[in-house]
Amino acid sequence: MPPAPSRRALVPFVSVANIMSLIHRIGLEEMMSGMADYIEDDFRRWELFDKTPRVASHSEVGVIELMPTSDGAVYGFKYVNGHPKNAAEGLQTVTAFGLLAEVDTGYPVLLSEMTVLTALRTAATSAMVARHLAPGSAETMALIGNGAQSEFQAIAFRAICGVNRLRLYDIDPAATRKTIANLETQGFELIACATAQEAIEGAQIITTCTADKQYATILTDNMVGAGVHINAIGGDCPGKTELHKDILSRADVFVEYPPQTRVEGEIQQMPDDFAVTEIWQVITGAAQGRRDDRQITLFDGVGFAIEDFSALRYLRDHLTDSGLYAQLDMIADPDDPRDLFGMVQRAHGEAA
Ligand SMILES: NC(=O)c1ccc[n+]([C@@H]2O[C@H](COP(=O)([O-])OP(=O)(O)OC[C@H]3O[C@@H](n4cnc5c(N)ncnc54)[C@H](O)[C@@H]3O)[C@@H](O)[C@H]2O)c1
Repeated sequence: MPPAPSRRALVPFVSVANIMSLIHRIGLEEMMSGMADYIEDDFRRWELFDKTPRVASHSEVGVIELMPTSDGAVYGFKYVNGHPKNAAEGLQTVTAFGLLAEVDTGYPVLLSEMTVLTALRTAATSAMVARHLAPGSAETMALIGNGAQSEFQAIAFRAICGVNRLRLYDIDPAATRKTIANLETQGFELIACATAQEAIEGAQIITTCTADKQYATILTDNMVGAGVHINAIGGDCPGKTELHKDILSRADVFVEYPPQTRVEGEIQQMPDDFAVTEIWQVITGAAQGRRDDRQITLFDGVGFAIEDFSALRYLRDHLTDSGLYAQLDMIADPDDPRDLFGMVQRAHGEAA
């Protein structure tokens, strides 16, 4: 038998099964509300984080990205893909996993699935941002794009912003039927709509979470009335947008990290000096959010590394005592740190 791995060699790993158990134990609303608070706290300390646009490897059918950041004590990254064609092949559009490591030693301290966690953190971010920008009285949300993210968005907006009526539209009616079936026991008023135009009627918040690897126009300028908040999260890649550019000219646009959003977000359609407000500045009070009830606010959300860092930080804090993880023998950690070779040799001898 090879020697047992040392304590530091074992990295807690949260599987898909365990993340689902944790969600059921904590409760989805509570988990997304808690995560939104972690994200907001980390946005408040924005300036101390290492920040870089995510590292993207594009192909004709999708993108694979690495999203790193560090707050000086803890480092994190996420691996994530985006393949709009996957759904037609019976696969997820987005899959992900990620880790946290301690900056002091570089040793990983948590590895987790992040496909489910990304849906939670994306919805938590959207709703946290809307808490700062949407009209205070908002109860009705249009939800355009009824795929994997949609129910998470709905539940986060209810927990964090008080949305209780959803107007749903998807180009594929089967997707809307699936979302309604999933949400009909959750206490929402649900209205299936035949067009995007119909979906946004009477909505104070409009969420677009469609997937199409092309410049799409889910909303045109004439469709959008004064005073709404738009939460546009499906345009998150070069060449992949959801809104007509005239909407961007009329709205006040809020973003996560401009160097990334200018490449990936709705504002890729605009000149490089197009004015945007960084959402962390609204959170700290350094910039104004919603000014008046006629203003159109637009969150051009693409997903930033700090949100994944916060989600993993939340997970780590809520994992202790849960038992909902496995210990992975992931780091080779010989007793004599210079004798990696000897450790390998001894394992062979002992195995034989
Ligand atoms: N901003 C972020 O942080 C973030 C995070 C995760 C996912 N995303 C993006 O959000 C989008 C949705 O992700 P998902 O996992 O739900 O994808 P999905 O493939 O499961 O669902 C997308 C849905 O959009 C629908 N759709 C496509 N074109 C449409 C159109 N023109 N009008 C109405 N509906 C249309 C599809 O039929 C499908 O049901 C993707 O583009 C994804 O890349 C963004």
